[in-house]
Amino acid sequence: MNQMIDDIGEILFSEEEIKAKVKELAARVTADYRGKELCIITILRGAAIFLADFTRELEDINFTIDFLVLSRGSAGKTGEVKIIKDLDHSIYKKHVLIVEDMIDIGESLHYAIKVLRLRNPASIKVCTLFEKPYRRILPIESDYSGFILPDEFVVGYGLDYRQKYRNLPVVGILKQKTSPR
Ligand code: IMP
Ligand code: MG
Repeated sequence: MNQMIDDIGEILFSEEEIKAKVKELAARVTADYRGKELCIITILRGAAIFLADFTRELEDINFTIDFLVLSRGSAGKTGEVKIIKDLDHSIYKKHVLIVEDMIDIGESLHYAIKVLRLRNPASIKVCTLFEKPYRRILPIESDYSGFILPDEFVVGYGLDYRQKYRNLPVVGILKQKTSPR
């Protein structure tokens, strides 16, 4: 962990700040979905860490969890998105909440929403812990948003650089990055 921390040039959000924000998002979702049946859908892998903390803060809500695995073309550019693993359960007439770690250009989410809409859920909303709204290429908006990030590549709390740093408890900017995301 110390070695990973040494690779971080600037810490943007501390463990405590992230924890407080996750609680706040869960409280908003709890208020909006109380009494409804909720299907939480996570696009793997980055959001897994957020999902685990977020769902444990939800109170008095009946929810199921399902996973979608997508592959993107060359990241940072719009390309072909494919489903690698589809949902296991039907979302027909159900309330869907997509839990995301990060919305950047919006490509992954745009594709996921397009595919899920065809299955006629009762509603689809998006909760993301981080986002860079000014980088959006596709028309995607979050319904619950944690932190707005500067135009920097960040790691930690599920976000990786080449599969590394996901387990960092803080989120920060890497000192050195040898290639784009
Ligand atoms: P997009 O919205 O289609 O660009 O995809 C967002 C995905 O790109 C996120 O779920 C992350 O996996 C990845 N991503 C975007 N920006 C960053 C970053 O700053 N650090 C780590 N991963 C990122
Ligand atoms: Mg992701």
